[in-house]
Amino acid sequence: MEKLIVHGGSRLSGTVTISGSKNSSLPILAATLLTAEQCVIRRVPDLSDTNYMVRILGTLGAEVERASGRVIVAAEKVIPQAPYDLVRKMRASVCVLGPLIGRLGEALVSLPGGCIIGDRPIDLHLRGLEALGAEVEVKGGDMKLSAPDGLRGAEINMRGKFGSTVLGTDNVMMAATLAEGRTVIEGAAAEPEVADLADFLIAMGAKIEGAGTRTIVIEGVEALGGAEHEVIPDRIEAGTFMVAGALIGDDLLLENVCIRHMGALIDVLRESGHSVEEKGADAVRVRAGSSPQGGEFTTEPYPGFATDMQAQMCALFATTPGISVVTEQVFPQRFMHVPELNRMGANIRMEDATAIIKGVERLSAAPVMASDLRASAALVLAGLGADGTTEVNRLYHIDRGYEHIDDKLRRVGAKVERVKE
Ligand code: UD1
Repeated sequence: MEKLIVHGGSRLSGTVTISGSKNSSLPILAATLLTAEQCVIRRVPDLSDTNYMVRILGTLGAEVERASGRVIVAAEKVIPQAPYDLVRKMRASVCVLGPLIGRLGEALVSLPGGCIIGDRPIDLHLRGLEALGAEVEVKGGDMKLSAPDGLRGAEINMRGKFGSTVLGTDNVMMAATLAEGRTVIEGAAAEPEVADLADFLIAMGAKIEGAGTRTIVIEGVEALGGAEHEVIPDRIEAGTFMVAGALIGDDLLLENVCIRHMGALIDVLRESGHSVEEKGADAVRVRAGSSPQGGEFTTEPYPGFATDMQAQMCALFATTPGISVVTEQVFPQRFMHVPELNRMGANIRMEDATAIIKGVERLSAAPVMASDLRASAALVLAGLGADGTTEVNRLYHIDRGYEHIDDKLRRVGAKVERVKE
């Protein structure tokens, strides 16, 4: 296992190029299963999660080639059974369900199970696919879906008690591209990654309108063909570097950023006194404010404040003067980073799904344990701003979602080292 040694006290300046989006790449790679023809996906980040998805495609029968961000998939023959060993390693592997049932009329995929950020059910995925005519049987830890006569379009409401579901919307949208007739998804997730997947499906020949809004209309087609696509920039990686800039940035330029996807975060950073300057449509310059102040936000589905940026903001607010209030509405249990930040000297008190953060002057280094992807990023940020040397253990969490994070940080002046435990 590897860990990251983070030496506090450096300042950041220089340019970071943001990678393609992990959360777009995963469903887009899964969508290549919908056609027998060759697809080319560009700017796929080199991460353990995208590697798992490439392996899953391979075990489902696709031929996959990968070189420097470009993934070429030809899924001429596909089997309906996704292997448990791979599925259990990555929750997002559930998004092969829609393409398999859509193309083959059957799918056998292991239940992904819970994860550290809380109970993560997939009832809405199954409800949506059932509405399209799939019979669903959950037995022995597997989901078995079958639609021997094919899927039929339907009107489906995808809203659950925590709002819309991103991968659930993706699954139903992918399956509906090959269903007979018209599907209307109400309460759809409006995340940019859903719109990016729809753009790829449209390039494959699908008929989709409204992706990126709460209502998506899909007219089923007989077959889809091969297509080329470049995934959108990763708004969570960009956001994480923005927070790094707000914490210890003298002059940090982020390139390949889609600024219009980042409004909620930019607003909170500016309200807290940091400088986020737009440089055209796809770059921002971030500088730490000279007199920052505490802030407040609640996580919500897009275009609200992203839950995937909550932990990093807790790390920033930990040393921001005043009281900050952070409420989690998407994954109410997603606060595993809080005890670790408190071990570094933060003053954070939990009240249900709200963190009340009293800014302290400095954090102090400590060995800390990464618990999930974004929590790990928060601990790295906290370590960069702390006195002394912080050890972030279980680095594999961060490698799931940040492409070469140690190299990128070092290039802009951070003192970090990846070492074997
Ligand atoms: C995706 C993102 C993840 C992000 C999350 C919310 C990917 C690969 N992952 O995950 O980084 O944190 O969106 O923006 O894109 N829910 C149900 N029933 C379901 C499905 C979800 O109740 O069938 C609940 C979840 O428990 C959660 C909320 O809905 O409270 C949102 O989850 P969802 O949007 O489905 O998350 P993912 O798509 O898995």
